[in-house]
Amino acid sequence: MRVFVDCDPGIDDAVALAYLAARPEVEILGVGAVFGNNTVEVTASNALRLLDLYGRPGVPVAVGAERPLVQPPRLAEHVHGGNGLGDVELPEPAREPVAESAAELLVRLARENPGELDVLAVGPLTNLAIALSLEPRLPRLVRRLVVMGGAVETAGNVTSHAEANIVNDPEAAEAVFAAGFDLDLVALDITMRTVATGEWLDRLKEVPGDRARHTSAFLDFYADFYKGIFGVRQCAMHDPLAAAVLVDPHLVTEAFDAPIRVELAGSLTRGMTVADRRPRPSADERRATRVVVSVSEEEFLKRMLDALR
Ligand code: BDR
Ligand code: CA
Repeated sequence: MRVFVDCDPGIDDAVALAYLAARPEVEILGVGAVFGNNTVEVTASNALRLLDLYGRPGVPVAVGAERPLVQPPRLAEHVHGGNGLGDVELPEPAREPVAESAAELLVRLARENPGELDVLAVGPLTNLAIALSLEPRLPRLVRRLVVMGGAVETAGNVTSHAEANIVNDPEAAEAVFAAGFDLDLVALDITMRTVATGEWLDRLKEVPGDRARHTSAFLDFYADFYKGIFGVRQCAMHDPLAAAVLVDPHLVTEAFDAPIRVELAGSLTRGMTVADRRPRPSADERRATRVVVSVSEEEFLKRMLDALR
């Protein structure tokens, strides 16, 4: 399968890249970087470093949006460290990002691979929204889009109702949900319940090699942050779960279909993902999104560990 990844690495973005890179059947045609967990300069540099680490040094990386469509940017150094990777220094990349923007690269790859390109979006959706403005046929050119973002029937993680990737650019997210993609949503509803436990983190420490060693060091930082939320040493694996839903769809054991809108105006709810779960939404509704609600957690954790071996 041919995949384009749009991301803001980011510790869990790193593990998502590892998950894909470990799979010989996954051809990563390009990676777009976006602001989010850090500035786009940092996330692009991290993407290059991570592709080297995880054995895909030839994948083109394109720099994307440095800020949201409308609002000012907000970064997440308290979650991902000052360098986006838990303050772990990976070797300098030996190459530069490509000259195309992330949106341009995505559009070109979609046009060159009509009906065959899958997209994994695990950062703010700004690059995808810009790509849609460049190529309105994108939802028909792309085979499947999996997004990590939103909080449909659970609490947000930036505000009471909003999750980071969506609230970091609500206008972009709304454009993506409205566009008509074949879209799976991996939201906090499932990612906050599918965690790398302390035992899993300990097992990773026993895996030999640079991939596991560096990833374990990123996750030590991440687990410290999450300890403040969960009360115990464990961490949510948001972006790798979205990668797993893309390449291992059988891991999804329950999902529901509903049109999703992003709240743009609410003073308390801006960035909330609102699912219309009426049995028969009105005839002019947008295409439904498939919202993942349950997965085979044990198999996911096993596959994530295997990816780092
Ligand atoms: C999402 O926000 C980012 O900080 C993570 O990388 C993930 O994509 C979780 O809300
Ligand atoms: Ca991310």
